[in-house]
Amino acid sequence: MWILIKPEIVRFKSVTSTNDEAKKSDLLQAVFIADEQTAGRGSKGRSWQSEKNKGLYMSFLIRPRIEPKAIPGLTLMAAVTVCNAIEKYADVNAQIKWPNDVLLNGRKAAGILTESVFGSGGVERVVCGIGINTNQTFSGELDIKAVSLEISDKDKKMLLCEEIIASFFKDYEVFTKKGLAAFLLEFRQRSAVSGNIKIILPSETLSGIFIGFDETGAIIIENENGRQSFIAGEISIRGEHGYV
Ligand code: BTN
Repeated sequence: MWILIKPEIVRFKSVTSTNDEAKKSDLLQAVFIADEQTAGRGSKGRSWQSEKNKGLYMSFLIRPRIEPKAIPGLTLMAAVTVCNAIEKYADVNAQIKWPNDVLLNGRKAAGILTESVFGSGGVERVVCGIGINTNQTFSGELDIKAVSLEISDKDKKMLLCEEIIASFFKDYEVFTKKGLAAFLLEFRQRSAVSGNIKIILPSETLSGIFIGFDETGAIIIENENGRQSFIAGEISIRGEHGYV
């Protein structure tokens, strides 16, 4: 039997990071939203530009009954969710740069930071943090790599936010029943990855030709050492504006 839990929506004016709030919460299922983050985090320990009312900063707290190895699939699912929501409110084609970047014309418009808390019984909670550049401006190197949706209207931003909340929980329900399989086709269709890529791992950077994604969402590359797959990491691909 499925018990539908109505997610709580917790709003902040200012917070260090909505992911931090979600990670320490006792709520069963919730979304934490802030107008600004004073220490917004991206993947690989980077910071996430989170000025007041310039972006959407939201973190979904869920408690999936899954094995740790299935957690990366939630990031891919969330990337699909974000692409669909963005396309509803901005006249754009959204693509995904595995595993957690949403690109518009080769520039990053949104990112996902999935973090997990483990207990004695395994995965205790997962936090999927989503940051969307709605009306940010960027300087320096970021100006080449990042882009905003150019949505500054408060009401439109709110609608986008509501769309993401509704779609995330709808997609998550499908994920809990069917797993990543339900999202893989769309993920592959939206993938911006092709040709020669670099995969940046904690210990080394590898180059290879992109082959595809397997059923777990791992990326497969081929080089002189044969085929290898990676469930996590960061890739560098050649886009319209250089490597992103
Ligand atoms: C990335 O692309 O590196 C991930 C960026 C994730 C940013 C979001 S904003 C809401 C949530 N809170 C954070 O501190 N990070 C995520």
